[in-house]
Amino acid sequence: MGTPFITFLGPSNLDAYDPKLSYTQQPESIPKTFLEAMEVREEVFVKEQGVPLENEFDSDDARACHWVVYASVNTTVQAEQKDADGKVIARKQSVTKSLPIGTIRLVPFPHPPHPTPGASYTEDALETDPDRDFTKPPPYIVDRATTFHDGKEPYIKLGRIAVLKEFRGAGIARLLANAAITWIQQNFTYFNPSIKTVGMENMNASNIAEIPVWKGLLCVHAQEQVTKTWAKWGFQIDEEMGTWMEEGIPHVGMFQRLKLDPNAGT
Ligand SMILES: CC(C)(COP(=O)(O)OP(=O)(O)OC[C@H]1O[C@@H](n2cnc3c(N)ncnc32)[C@H](O)[C@@H]1OP(=O)(O)O)[C@@H](O)C(=O)NCCC(=O)NCCS
Repeated sequence: MGTPFITFLGPSNLDAYDPKLSYTQQPESIPKTFLEAMEVREEVFVKEQGVPLENEFDSDDARACHWVVYASVNTTVQAEQKDADGKVIARKQSVTKSLPIGTIRLVPFPHPPHPTPGASYTEDALETDPDRDFTKPPPYIVDRATTFHDGKEPYIKLGRIAVLKEFRGAGIARLLANAAITWIQQNFTYFNPSIKTVGMENMNASNIAEIPVWKGLLCVHAQEQVTKTWAKWGFQIDEEMGTWMEEGIPHVGMFQRLKLDPNAGT
């Protein structure tokens, strides 16, 4: 594998994405980087972990920032050919392709309420409110307080981390987590809402001081078997968030607080 490289995709219009179809069958308007993120997610979450295809794409994908990591992979397109005397008559031909091998995303606030401890969801726990309009971000709410979240502070959610099986154990996930965390640290005002576009009343704010501003709180809904990895990157289990099931996989909440350098913000 050559040196992996990473691409970034900011929030994009994915209205035409059909969750029931594979990434290979989506309309041309869907950004290529997003299709490549879905290529990895379909391989890992759908084929390997058994998540139904239609549950893999969700309403957070359009408003999220995505990172995709690629490896340069050499593939033989024509094998060497020899004649009856063993003389080479056609040389082996190979091409180098960039293969998407890993992905991660950052979802801005606001978020739906924290999942209920002990509950079992047949899809993403945050996609289950039957009354919600999924074409819009969730409303600003006061959530239940947990160990690391007071229920009010805006937090950004890191998730959908996946690396193809054959490329695991080589630091690819670490590379992705670092890329996303470093980026949001350097662009910490990126997701702060504008009064002009969102409107004070939709921010659940009655004065300027109540306008939601991100102060460095980062969350992850971690599969229980991956909590040790997230802990290595600074996340701590939020005991009061409890454990819940998504698609039969136990999940827990984890948080970390990033230090923000006011001189680095955009
Ligand atoms: C979880 C996952 C993304 C990790 O990807 P990866 O590229 O293999 O991870 P890395 O090589 O960057 O390793 C991450 C850390 O886990 C540790 N690790 C990796 N493979 C390990 C293994 N087989 N056993 C124990 N620890 C291991 C590494 O020591 C590393 O720690 P470091 O950052 O301090 O070096 C990958 O296994 C995956 O896609 N799993 C399926 C999807 C999934 O469960 N996603 C998580 C949803 S919350």
